[in-house]
Amino acid sequence: MARTCLTIILAAGEGSRMRSAMPKVLHEVAGLSLLGHVMRAAQGAGGDHQVVVVGREAERVEAEARVHAPEVAIAHQLERLGTAHAVMAARDTIEQGFDDILVLFGDTPLIRPETLGKMRDALAEGAAVAVLGFRTSEPDGYGRLILEDGELAAIREHKDASAEELKIDFCNGGIMALAGSSALELIGAIGNENAKGEYYLTDSVEIARARGLKVSALEAKAEEVHGVNDRSELARIEAVWQGRRRLEAMRSGVTMLAPDTVYFSYDTEIEADAVVEPQCFFGPGVHIAAGARIRAFSHLEGAEVGVNCIVGPYARLRPGTVLASEARVGNFCETKNVKVGEGAKINHLSYIGDATVGPHANIGAGTITCNYDGVNKHLTEIGADAFIGSNSALVAPVSIGDGAYVASGSVITKAVPDNALAVARGRQATKPGYAEEIRKRNAAEKERRKQNKG
Ligand code: UD1
Ligand code: MG
Repeated sequence: MARTCLTIILAAGEGSRMRSAMPKVLHEVAGLSLLGHVMRAAQGAGGDHQVVVVGREAERVEAEARVHAPEVAIAHQLERLGTAHAVMAARDTIEQGFDDILVLFGDTPLIRPETLGKMRDALAEGAAVAVLGFRTSEPDGYGRLILEDGELAAIREHKDASAEELKIDFCNGGIMALAGSSALELIGAIGNENAKGEYYLTDSVEIARARGLKVSALEAKAEEVHGVNDRSELARIEAVWQGRRRLEAMRSGVTMLAPDTVYFSYDTEIEADAVVEPQCFFGPGVHIAAGARIRAFSHLEGAEVGVNCIVGPYARLRPGTVLASEARVGNFCETKNVKVGEGAKINHLSYIGDATVGPHANIGAGTITCNYDGVNKHLTEIGADAFIGSNSALVAPVSIGDGAYVASGSVITKAVPDNALAVARGRQATKPGYAEEIRKRNAAEKERRKQNKG
């Protein structure tokens, strides 16, 4: 039978260096909260029973946690007495009995499911405690992994370390795995006689060893265990995350001309043979199908881009935009809540919102759907093969039939039937030779002004 796994996420820290009204773990990387990243990574490693240990602004943290795991348990740590004390806040859940327990920090969003999987493997192989270490040339502030004969013997917190121990560059990343069978016993034995007067979860290593239990140390890349303490670290972690995601996209067959200038969201889906030109931003909820080209300076969120579509340059696709295959949305166009049929074109300077655009329709330059009357949003329906002349305003609710034509510059307020032509603008009057009359009149007026001055 598969081993059961409980994930305990510590998120009771003050996060004061963020200088934020918002709890630290709600700050985002790639459009997803730090907490969301951690919860999803644990889920990816089978750790789907989750407890979040919260301190201040517990309701907000809880609401975010529920987005990612509706069944999540919330444990309140009222006093911040250390990481072991924080884990004990989740005691009730631990007592339900799990094979594996993962303890993660809510502010360490780059941890990968594969790494957590390896920690669980260490437990499966008999370890009572598994620790995730990393090497760094700047070990200040971290707990040091003390090895004896190549085996992990203890973790010494920075403030408690001797001069000799401070030279160790193998540090504790903070993430730990504990065998459910002995976790409560080990944590229960942890005291607080140390430099900070805190209950250190890391002491579980020495205690386990003293009881003849096996402990293991795994090594991860430093970036994977980087935590967020202030906004500069948030930016650094965003950069690492984006770098990973770009590489993954390119390895899976996406062409990127200037990868460093493209920003993905945590959930961006982009198929092989899509091309992304420089300076594009993908907000949450974007799917790009194979062969689509996202041209430079485009901003997309909540949008579905079909096979072989061309978007941009300078396009803005807002939530609810769905482009069928071969559709085009060109420069300075904004779309929102619109279904665009196969091969349809919205190529220049348009706003199309709350609408359907039939297959192969052509939306001329400067077309605007007037979807909002100040109170309500209304729908515009544009049929297949319809042709909307440039600079037209379609005042919703309104429909344009299949194959219909709308003359340029029209303000359409009434339904246009299939295959009809609608002209809704002032009629042009042309007076032959009249320009000469105007020039004469203007010349006479100029002469009169000159005389008056003189
Ligand atoms: C901890 C580790 C240290 C490791 C480092 C990596 C311990 C004792 N030390 O130290 O070995 O090198 O992380 O970054 O575990 N928290 C609570 N309640 C508490 C205390 C902490 O929820 O009472 C949470 C914090 O919000 C934070 C995490 O636990 O997310 C770690 O706490 P922190 O105070 O940052 O521990 P460090 O001193 O950095
Ligand atoms: Mg810390």
